[in-house]
Amino acid sequence: MFNFNYQNETKIIFGKDTEATVGTELAKHTKKVLLHYGGASAKATGLYDKVVTSLTEAGIAFVELGGVKPNPRASLVYEGIELCRNENIDFILAVGGGSVIDSAKAIAAGVYYDGDFWDLYTKGAKPTDCLKVATVLTIPAAGSEASTATVITHEKTNEKRGYGHPKLRPVFSILNPELTFTLPDYQTSCGLADMFAHVVERYFTQQRHDIYTTRLCEATMKTIVELGRKIFKDPNNYELRAEIMLAGMVAHNDWLGLGRGGDWSSHQIEHELSGFYDLSHGAGLCIIIPAWMKHVYHHDMPFFAQFANRVFDIEINTANLEETALKGIAELERFYQDINMPIRFADANLPTHEIDKLVTSAMSGRASFGGFVQITEADVKAIYELAL
Ligand code: NZQ
Ligand code: ZN
Repeated sequence: MFNFNYQNETKIIFGKDTEATVGTELAKHTKKVLLHYGGASAKATGLYDKVVTSLTEAGIAFVELGGVKPNPRASLVYEGIELCRNENIDFILAVGGGSVIDSAKAIAAGVYYDGDFWDLYTKGAKPTDCLKVATVLTIPAAGSEASTATVITHEKTNEKRGYGHPKLRPVFSILNPELTFTLPDYQTSCGLADMFAHVVERYFTQQRHDIYTTRLCEATMKTIVELGRKIFKDPNNYELRAEIMLAGMVAHNDWLGLGRGGDWSSHQIEHELSGFYDLSHGAGLCIIIPAWMKHVYHHDMPFFAQFANRVFDIEINTANLEETALKGIAELERFYQDINMPIRFADANLPTHEIDKLVTSAMSGRASFGGFVQITEADVKAIYELAL
C-alpha cells in the first residue's frame, strides 16, 4: 500500500428536503454568494426558487450567473471571474451537476490567479488561494460534489482539460435524491457510466497490497450495475435514487483509491470525445473503457478475471483466464447497452476519420500516461480504433 494523506473536508448533507437548509449552511461562512447554475432544469424543476427562498430567509445576498453548458466552457468562467472580483464575492454556490460545479471551481481558482485562468489547466500554474465553493447536486455522476477536480473545455481549441486543488473540495454539498427524479433517462445513464468509470480508474492499478480497497471498489461497481438495471423501471424510487447518489459520491471522493493509485488513461482519452464533439462524458466513457480494457487486459489477466467474477458473477475458468477476462469485458458492454449507452463511435454518430487529431490532442506533448499500463501514442490510437 502506498503512503497517503487524506483529508476530505466536504460536509455531506444528504436526504429529503435538505436543499431547504442551504441558506443556513451558507450563513455559517458568508453573507454573499455567486449563485451559479446551468440551463433550464434548475428553474423548470422549482429548485432555483427553493434555493432563492432559503438564501433570502437566511439573509444571504446573491449575484447570479446561469447558463453553464454541459462540458462547461472557458468563456463563462472568464465572465464569472470578473463578476466575483467586481462584486467582492468570496463564496460560490453551484446548483446543478458536475458541469456547474466544475465551472464554479474554475472561477473559484481563477479569481486568485493573476493571469489567464486557463494556465492552471494547461501550464501547471497555481492560484494563490481559492474562493470557497458549496453545491446543491442535481445529478449523481461526476463526483465533483466531493472531489478536488474541475474539468473545463476551451472553445477556442476544443481542449478539455482538468485541474485539481485541495481547496476546491466543496465546503458542503447538499444531496437530495428527490432532486434526481426529473433527470432524463439519458442523463441518468451517463451518470451511472461516469461513476462506474471512476471506480474502474482506481481499481486497475499496479499496487497489489490493496485487498480492502479492491473489495470496496468491487462492491461499488456491483452496486452501480445492479441499481442501474433497476432504476429505469422505477425512476421515482427514492431508495434506489439515494443508493445511486451515495455510490456516485463515494466513487470519486478519493476514498476508493487510498493507498492504491489508479490508471486514469480512459478519462484522458474520453475527454477528447466530449471536448471535440460535445458528447456527454459518461457516454464517451462507455465507448472508451471497453476498448481500453481490450487493449490492456493481457497485462494482468488474473485481475481482469477477478473483475469478471466479482462484478459480473462470471465463473472463473482457471484453465483459460483469458476467456473469463473477455467475458467480463463483454458483460460490461452489455450493461452499457442495457442502459442505452453507446459502445462504439458509430453508436454516438461520431466521425471515424479524425482519430489522428484526437490522438495528438490526447497526448498533449507527453510520451505516455496511465498508472495501470503506461500507454503511448500508438496505444491511444489502437484504443480509439478498437472503439470504432
Ligand atoms: O443545464 P441544465 O438545464 O441544468 O441540464 C443538465 C444538463 O443538460 C441536466 N440536469 C442536471 N440535473 C438535472 C438535469 N435535468 C433534469 N433534472 C435534473 N435534476 O443534465 C445535463 C448534464 O449535466 P452535467 O452537469 O453536464 O452532468 P454531469 O454531472 O455528468 O457533469 C459532467 C461534467 O463533469 C465532468 C465531465 O467531464 C463533464 O464536463 N467531470 C468532472 C469531474 C470532477 N470535477 O471531479 C470528474 C469526472 O470524471 C468528469 O470528467
Ligand atoms: Zn468521469
